[in-house]
Amino acid sequence: MINLIIFGPPGAGKGTQAQIIAKKYKLTHLSSGDILRQELKNGELGKKIKKYQDAGQLVPDSIIIAMMEKAATNKIKGRGFIFDGYPRNIRQAKSLDKFFKSHKISLGQVLNLRLSEVVAIRRIILRGKTSGRSDDNLKTIKSRYKVYRTQTAPLLEYYRAQKKITNIDGQLPIMEAFAKIETVIAKIAK
Ligand code: AP5
Ligand code: MG
Repeated sequence: MINLIIFGPPGAGKGTQAQIIAKKYKLTHLSSGDILRQELKNGELGKKIKKYQDAGQLVPDSIIIAMMEKAATNKIKGRGFIFDGYPRNIRQAKSLDKFFKSHKISLGQVLNLRLSEVVAIRRIILRGKTSGRSDDNLKTIKSRYKVYRTQTAPLLEYYRAQKKITNIDGQLPIMEAFAKIETVIAKIAK
C-alpha cells in the first residue's frame, strides 16, 4: 500500500497531480474540497459548508474529519490513498495519524508543491472563468491564502519532524512536476 499526501497552497496543482498519481498507481484520490462540494446541495449541512468555502475559511474539524474518515474507511482495502487538501491543520493531521495507526498502515510521503503566491493566484483567477467554484475570485483567494499560511503551512514542520516531506517545484509544467513525483514514489514503493 502506498499512502501519500499532496500538499501546497491553493492553486498549487494538488488536484491536478493527485488525479494523475491516482490513475497511474491505482490509488484512491480523496480530495476534501471535492468531498465538501458534493455536499453543497445537502440542506442545512450544505449551507453551512458553503458559508465557510465562500469566505475562504476552513470548514469546522467536526464536519470534515468525520467525512474523510468515512471516505477512507470505505476504501481501506484498496492499493492506498492520495489525500488532497487534507489534512489542513494539526488536529486533522493527528486524526489522520490515528487513522493510519488503527489500520496498521503508514504514511509514505508528503509531496509539497511549492510555487509563488503570484503564480498561484493567477492560476485560480484563470480557472474561475470556467470552474463554477464560487471561491475562485480574488477576494476569497486572498483569504484562502492567508488561512493556508497561518493554519496549514505549520503542518510542514509537523511532517518534517516525521521525515516525511519532499518538496516538488509546483511551477514546472504539469507532466514535468509529475515526473519528479514518480521518482519519489519509486523510492518509497521499493
Ligand atoms: P480545496 O478545494 O482543497 O481548494 P484549495 O486548497 O484552495 O486548492 P485548489 O483546489 O484551488 O487548488 P489545487 O492545489 O487543487 O490546484 P489545481 O490542481 O486545481 O478547498 C476549498 C475549500 O474547501 C477551502 O477553502 C475550505 O473552505 C474547504 N476545505 C477543503 N478541505 C478542507 C479541510 N481539510 N478542512 C477544512 N476545510 C476544508 O490547479 C489550479 C489551476 O492551475 C487549475 O486550473 C490547473 O489546471 C492549473 N494547473 C495545475 N498545475 C499546473 C501547472 N503545473 N502549470 C500550470 N497550470 C497548472
Ligand atoms: Mg484542489
